[in-house]
Parts: sequence; structure tokens; C-alpha cells
Amino acid sequence: MARADLLKQLFKAFRDSDRDSFMEVAHFIVDEERKKHHVILANELRRILDNHVVPTQSRMMDRFHPPPMDHDKRSPLLEIRNPDRFLHDLIIDSTNDDLILSVIREFRQWDVLESNGLRPNHKLLFCGPPGCGKTVTAEAIATELGLPMVYVRFDSVVSSLLGETASNLRRVFDYIGQDTWVVLFDEFDAIGRSRDDVTEHGEIKRVVSSFLQMLDNFDGRSLIIAATNFEQSLDPALWRRFDEVVRFERPTVHQIEKLMQARLRYIANRRVSIKKYASQLEGSTFADVERICLAVLKICALDGKKRFSVNDLATAIRKHKVRRRAMSRSNSGAMPKVDSA
Ligand SMILES: Nc1ncnc2c1ncn2[C@@H]1O[C@H](COP(=O)(O)OP(=O)(O)O)[C@@H](O)[C@H]1O
Ligand SMILES: [Mg+2]
Repeated sequence: MARADLLKQLFKAFRDSDRDSFMEVAHFIVDEERKKHHVILANELRRILDNHVVPTQSRMMDRFHPPPMDHDKRSPLLEIRNPDRFLHDLIIDSTNDDLILSVIREFRQWDVLESNGLRPNHKLLFCGPPGCGKTVTAEAIATELGLPMVYVRFDSVVSSLLGETASNLRRVFDYIGQDTWVVLFDEFDAIGRSRDDVTEHGEIKRVVSSFLQMLDNFDGRSLIIAATNFEQSLDPALWRRFDEVVRFERPTVHQIEKLMQARLRYIANRRVSIKKYASQLEGSTFADVERICLAVLKICALDGKKRFSVNDLATAIRKHKVRRRAMSRSNSGAMPKVDSA
């Protein structure tokens, strides 16, 4: 139908308060935009029609095709998430902030870049120690773009059946090629490092290289993020496959202080110097600091207190240090290693 006719019908439906006709034309427009590959616009229009309600997991599952399964384990190869945290909920340094904002901007202006013969940066590598924000930043990017997130854990893709792992990866890429998402391949090299067996290691190496090959060939309209806990400098052969590499470091004392202030703001006690406690936590991860703040919040909730005390904070930090010591002892071999297979 011609654009002018559609607009006339839409206006008439509005004038006549004819909700059914209005919705019919509106859905027609959404479908047309989707056919023209204006997927972001189509999704946004659809969301407006859906009354700004963020789709729940079950509604999303209805709308999209069911996720692919591992034929042997009969388990899903991916998970669809609808994150709700925004970038401003996170503590991000200015370099990473600029980089992430430019990726979001390019992604939103995909058509503009494409009509100028350019392609947005849409394949990202997130690296850095655990608990420093790789997963949560990917989630925040999805929220900012108003897109669902496809979460792929590598260990669910790896199959015990010969050749099935590559087929699983193929299924994942075929699935994500059907729509627009933020796709997170989380800890995509983790299994490679957690297993000592030489043959297993060879298999995982093959998996990682077929992953990189499929990534190279992927021409869908999604933002793909691969995350790795690898802390040392990365093999250039690896990072060259990505448009951007974002490093996530442990927080500085100032960032620890900012995070504590943000998380404890509803039970803030101006007489306690958070700065002093933040410096005690130097070297911790964001996840550690978050856990300590949650412990303080729990103490206050259970004691019915409106403000935390020095004691509450000290108790939470002490517990955290005990936990850390226990974990480092188990990592150094005092406890039997849990088999991840
Ligand atoms: N930059 C950050 N700002 C605020 N909180 C953070 C940040 N990074 C991590 N966190 C907190 O730590 C938790 C674990 O972070 P996560 O993104 O899962 O780490 P990673 O994926 O790097 O292992 C998050 O759920 C979040 O609560
Ligand atoms: Mg993670």
C-alpha cells in the first residue's frame, strides 16, 4: 500500500477513535519497516504499540522462534534475556564510556552509515578479570538499544558428540541471523583453560576457531559481543577479528568509593567516611564491592535501621575477607577441583 494511503487511513482511524483499524494499519507499517530491514525502528514502533511495556520473557519467547537445542543433551543452546540495567547504573571510566557510546551511536545510525557505504562497528571483544563488568555492560548496552539479549554460554554449545559442537554453533548463528539482538558469547574461551586434557584442549581450540570463522562470515544486523576473562595481552590474531576491544579493569579506589556511595545511598550515614573503607578494598572487583554493599543492606534491613554504622560496614568487609581467603585456599589445591564437565 502506498505510504500516503497508509497515513490517511491512520489519521482517519484516529479521528474516528477506531482503535481496531488504527492497530491494523500500525501493525502493517511495523511489518513494512521490518521487511525493509529497518529492524530497530520496527522494534521501537512495536514497543510503542505495546504500551511501553517491556516484554516479559514468555512474551518474547512467543514472538520469536524457540531457541535452538543441543540434540544430545536436549538443552537450549542460548537464553533470551530482557535486561533492565542502564549504563548510568554502572561505574565506567571515561575511555570505555566514550567507546561504548560511540558503538551505540553507530548501531542506532546503521542505515545512515550503510547508505554511505560504511558499516557500524558491531563486533566487540570484552576482556578482563571476572567480576569487573563485562556481562553487566553487555546487558546495559542491550537496555540502551531497547533490544533483547541473546546469551550464549560456551559450555552449553560444546557437545560430547563428534561434530555436534560445530553444528550447535551453526544453529546459534542461524538463529541470531533471524533478528536484531545484542548477542553475548560469554566466556567464550573459558573451557579451553579449565581443562587439562590435551585432546579436549584440541577440541576446544577447534571450537574457538570455528566460532571466529562464523563470526567473520556473520553479516546479520546484531551487535555481537564476545567476552573473555583472559587478563594478559591478547593474541593479535584474536583481537583483529573484532571491530573494538574493550578492557575491563579492577576498580580504582575512587571507583570503589563511587560504587559504595551509589549502592548505600538509601541508608547513607554522613558520619562514616566511605573513602576510608574504599581504600581498604583496593584490588577488589566490582562484584566484591557489590557483595559487601548487599551484606550491609541486609544487616540494616534485618535490624530495621535507616542508616548503616561503622560496625555494619566493618562486619561486611571482614566476612568478605574470610570468604576470599577460603576461596584462594581452595584454588591453591586444598580442596578437590570440581570437574566442570
Ligand atoms: N562497572 C560496574 N559498575 C557497577 N557494578 C558493577 C560493575 N561491574 C560489575 N559490577 C557488579 O558486579 C557484578 C558482576 O559483574 P559481571 O558483569 O558479571 O562481571 P564479569 O562479566 O566481568 O565477570 C554485576 O552484576 C554488577 O552488580
Ligand atoms: Mg561475565
